Amino acid sequence: MDPLDPPDRPVDAVEASRSIATVSVDAVAAIDAVVAALPDDDDGDTPLAAAIAVDTRRRLVLTGRPLPPPTHTRVLTVANQKGGVGKTTTAVNIAAALAQSGLKVLVVDLDPQGNASTALGVDHRSGVPSVYEVLVDGAEMTGVVVESPTVAGLFCVPATIDLAGAEIELVSLVAREGRLARALAAHLADTAYDYVFIDCPPSLGLLTVNAFVAAREVFIPIQCEYYALEGLSQLLRSVEMIRSHLNPELAVSTILLTMHDGRTRLSSQVADEVREHFPEQTLRTTIPRSVRVSEAPSFGETVMTYDPLNSAALAYLEAAAQIAERGAQGSR
Ligand SMILES: Nc1ncnc2c1ncn2[C@@H]1O[C@H](COP(=O)(O)OP(=O)(O)OP(=O)(O)O)[C@@H](O)[C@H]1O
Ligand SMILES: [Mg+2]
Repeated sequence: MDPLDPPDRPVDAVEASRSIATVSVDAVAAIDAVVAALPDDDDGDTPLAAAIAVDTRRRLVLTGRPLPPPTHTRVLTVANQKGGVGKTTTAVNIAAALAQSGLKVLVVDLDPQGNASTALGVDHRSGVPSVYEVLVDGAEMTGVVVESPTVAGLFCVPATIDLAGAEIELVSLVAREGRLARALAAHLADTAYDYVFIDCPPSLGLLTVNAFVAAREVFIPIQCEYYALEGLSQLLRSVEMIRSHLNPELAVSTILLTMHDGRTRLSSQVADEVREHFPEQTLRTTIPRSVRVSEAPSFGETVMTYDPLNSAALAYLEAAAQIAERGAQGSR
């Protein structure tokens, strides 16, 4: 096989997931009975068998069930100026999980790399109407939104490489920090969404500032590795500054631990430390490392459709359920 060829998809897993994904609400009671009949984790099975039993239980409990809508549209900016910590992966997978669970979700790709657009299977070649035209030319967001071909109810404002120049072009424009906020507010006035996620580039420049002004919530993915907390205080200071000058409603509402490696003590130590500092904000679920997560974008998919039975996909679904629970209770 050519090493550049994308790996084959696990056909059985995909088919199995489709049948699970179409489970009807009526079947939920039957599924609950199956879950109750599964052996306990400590039934003396091998570690692998126990892990499979745990995943099976999580899958049956979560997949195909509707999640409750929030009391109002929640706009979350997914930010961390550290590169490669899982911002985009988190934004698109949480968004896909919520949409698969019946909610209407928009992802605004605000990174010139266009990784979120890629993962959602949305065209983002240079010249495609995108967030660049919205920010720099004042185009209406409604004209650039496209639905992801992979998940119904999941929409995307794509980012093209043109956005790379926007950081500089914005400097000379009026109301340069509030351009995304204005465009999003106008779009939300004629199109209702349950959730909006804004995927930021790895910097605290004008693009990220625009995202902070457009949102009420900051969602920080933290990678479970040694330097994880370095730079976090700078991010929190930026949020504080935006709150005092530009957007008094902004607050860090959600933190998710990503790329957790259960085999290392370091991963768990980082997770414990983050929980100690941010007990309220940190979601109970942590996202494990899985190669399937990083393969999915090369097929224009999130792992939620590419391999929904995978542990990381289940973890993202669980995290989405926790976010939805909070939203239904009216928090943020
Ligand atoms: N749970 C995971 N398991 C394995 N690989 C992962 C996982 N989460 C993310 N990755 C991979 O790690 C890399 C960085 O993730 P991602 O692009 O989401 O980070 P980012 O913070 O958006 O990066 P950037 O700062 O460049 O925008 C990607 O190759 C992604 O596929
Ligand atoms: Mg990214």
